[in-house]
Amino acid sequence: MSSQAESAVRSIEEELFAEHRLFDELGSSLIAATIARDATAAHAIWNDLRSVLLVHVQGEDRFLIPALARRQPQEARALLAEHKLIRDRVGEIDAALAQGLRPIQSLRAFVDELNAHARHEAKVLYAHRDAWLDDKERALLDAYRDEASKVSSAASSSSTFTGFVR
Ligand SMILES: [Fe+2]
Ligand SMILES: [Fe+2]
Repeated sequence: MSSQAESAVRSIEEELFAEHRLFDELGSSLIAATIARDATAAHAIWNDLRSVLLVHVQGEDRFLIPALARRQPQEARALLAEHKLIRDRVGEIDAALAQGLRPIQSLRAFVDELNAHARHEAKVLYAHRDAWLDDKERALLDAYRDEASKVSSAASSSSTFTGFVR
């Protein structure tokens, strides 16, 4: 692999890690806004977290997990199951917030689940991915990441909650 290709792959990996950090930051802001009973802020943060998370998971399902499945089918199935759990949790939190509830324990559990998922992916999905993808897959992933990074930077610039003092 050329050094240019290596740096392109590394930058995608950094973006994916950065998105996991963003989920954690948005999750913490969301919990703080919910505790502070700031429903407007909580809904805005949730909408950002939800959109960037679903785009991230969809990209992994389409562009990374099929390559993992060729080499480690059990790990691929485990990650797909975690993605299903994440989508189910998003639906549950959507429903709770739509009912005007303050699902603080569910949000804390969800942030913990997302961080556990991030650690799992760091080990099995991101670490060796550059050796799995062929050139066509890498080009598709690059194009997808260009689009996904717009969603992620919009979310990271719009959602910080500062109204709650711990
Ligand atoms: Fe994932
Ligand atoms: Fe991920």
